[in-house]
Amino acid sequence: MKDLINSYKIEEIKTLLKEKDAVLIAHYYVAADIQKLAEETGGIVADSLEMARFGANHPAKILVVAGVKFMAESAKILSPDKTVLHIAPDATCSLDIGCDVDEFKEFCAKYPDREVVVYANTSAAVKACADWVVTSSIAIDVVDYLESENRKIIWAPDKYLGGYVKKKTNADMILWDGACIVHEEFKANELKRLKDEFPDAAVLVHPESPKDVVELADVVGSTSQLLNASQKLLNTKFIVATDQGILYKMQQASPHKTFIEAPTGGNGATCRSCARCPWMAMNSVTQIYDVLAGKMNEVIISDDIRLRALVPLQKMLDFKR
Ligand code: 13P
Ligand code: SF4
Repeated sequence: MKDLINSYKIEEIKTLLKEKDAVLIAHYYVAADIQKLAEETGGIVADSLEMARFGANHPAKILVVAGVKFMAESAKILSPDKTVLHIAPDATCSLDIGCDVDEFKEFCAKYPDREVVVYANTSAAVKACADWVVTSSIAIDVVDYLESENRKIIWAPDKYLGGYVKKKTNADMILWDGACIVHEEFKANELKRLKDEFPDAAVLVHPESPKDVVELADVVGSTSQLLNASQKLLNTKFIVATDQGILYKMQQASPHKTFIEAPTGGNGATCRSCARCPWMAMNSVTQIYDVLAGKMNEVIISDDIRLRALVPLQKMLDFKR
């Protein structure tokens, strides 16, 4: 019965997207049925950088975002004249929650000579305080460039990604103390055990994971970089340390390969997320139908914040190395 309702909704959504000149922009971590719908309707399934680019360049009047709050806000900052609908308005991110704008301003005020680089997983208000916004797929390139210009850096909010970028670039970076509750739970000891069990498997790790987990990786990268690696590497087995939502695309691109979720704890351990972002999981097909049928959930950002946040966000999109 649930399947019948869902397939009815999917046909309705396809019609509504066309009628309303709307396009669906989804992150790799949302449920497979949403990813499939985005692909089938000329939308996109992508990492946070490509989601922002796609929305800014697409001619549709309405951008429907399936993902978390900062992704919908980035779409609005870049496309103020478009209507941006976030299907799950309560879906945020532990990095965004852990970087309060007033505390961040106080932090930055202590280091006035430093360039402020913030991860895309932050509120529009925090972006408005930054010199640069970066996503995990472009962070090393941008920080490497700043380092070559002898710039010292304030990095926020993810301490693990910040630590990884610092190590890769040798940049002088002061790190905010934030973490992703999903990636922080991957465990190096358990991962070692799994590697022993599957010695031929390549290990793919998102850099929001702890340092000892990153050190066990064959490839470290953003969601799209991990997806590319799963296609290009000749291994037939992969251990994947990021939200399990990405396995849909990995399996679709390489049906003959085997993908194994990286462990988040030992035997009998409890975890808060178990490699599943609780906020990404708030997105559903029903909500896409609801927003298109009139519920809206429109993203609104004040002009003052939007215009200030646009500067570092646009810098990221224009950055070429
Ligand atoms: P990507 O930029 O790699 O898509 O990552 C976004 C994110 O929230 C990872 O947890
Ligand atoms: Fe935020 Fe982590 Fe969820 Fe990504 S997986 S949206 S960083 S809480």
